Amino acid sequence: MYTILSNERISEGIYLMTVEGQFQARMGQFYMLRAWNQTPVLSRPISICNMEKDCIQFLYKIAGEGTRLFALLRAGDSIQLEGPFGNGFPDVQGRTALVGGGIGIAPLLYTAKQLDNPDIYLGFRGQSYMTEAYEPYANELIVRVNGNLLNDLDMKKYDNVLVCGPLGMMKATALMAEGLDTKVYVSFEKRMACGIGACYVCSVMNKHGNRKVCADGPVFLAEEVEWHAELSL
Ligand SMILES: Cc1cc2nc3c(=O)[nH]c(=O)nc-3n(C[C@H](O)[C@H](O)[C@H](O)COP(=O)(O)OP(=O)(O)OC[C@H]3O[C@@H](n4cnc5c(N)ncnc54)[C@H](O)[C@@H]3O)c2cc1C
Ligand code: FES
Repeated sequence: MYTILSNERISEGIYLMTVEGQFQARMGQFYMLRAWNQTPVLSRPISICNMEKDCIQFLYKIAGEGTRLFALLRAGDSIQLEGPFGNGFPDVQGRTALVGGGIGIAPLLYTAKQLDNPDIYLGFRGQSYMTEAYEPYANELIVRVNGNLLNDLDMKKYDNVLVCGPLGMMKATALMAEGLDTKVYVSFEKRMACGIGACYVCSVMNKHGNRKVCADGPVFLAEEVEWHAELSL
């Protein structure tokens, strides 16, 4: 069990939880969080948003029962963390852009801190949040509220684009890179059950077969994803 240092509401339905402890993880990995004994049955996967020497931070959006319970936690309460899980983003070299949509911005803060001043694109509906935290790690920070963030992205400028956000946004980014040398990596947020690769609930179809977000992902090379099986645009 770990102790919560703070759990702040930073926007409508969006919270930033800071948990005390020393953690080691890769950018783009996630933890399974649990703040209850019996129900809901399953722990909930939440990405690493940020890590400092003595704490870890999770940025989360209230989606249902589990995240609603997280939002009720106060400084001094306990939380169970298991992890880190997943492959995380690769150690990319060259010109890099990070692209986050909505709560998909969460894994990109710690990622930005690990990279050499990437350009950061953050898109929101209704209201932006947390953007000032990304600014010190960005070569250029582009924030768009209620527009198409991808209109601002010139793929040709980049060797790598790391994306987390709605499925439609990730697919559109993948399509923009077709025919270019730019490598696009997408981080999936699938619904999970076992969280350890045993149940296939979190499957993503890719060119090499069925892959599991919890065990093989959450990050995949976009050109390998069978997007038509995930989403028809
Ligand atoms: C690898 C990974 C990393 C994640 N990182 C974050 C993060 O940093 N911040 C954050 O806010 N959320 C993140 N999520 C999503 C988060 O895990 C879910 O929102 C959460 O599990 C929902 O639990 P709940 O009990 O609140 O809602 P539930 O009651 O379980 O579900 C509420 C609604 O949300 C839908 N839903 C549940 N889980 C998901 C999901 N994974 N994707 C899409 N829809 C879902 C359900 O179908 C239902 O309609 C991540 C998911 C994965 C797989
Ligand atoms: S959640 Fe069971 S295999 Fe991924």
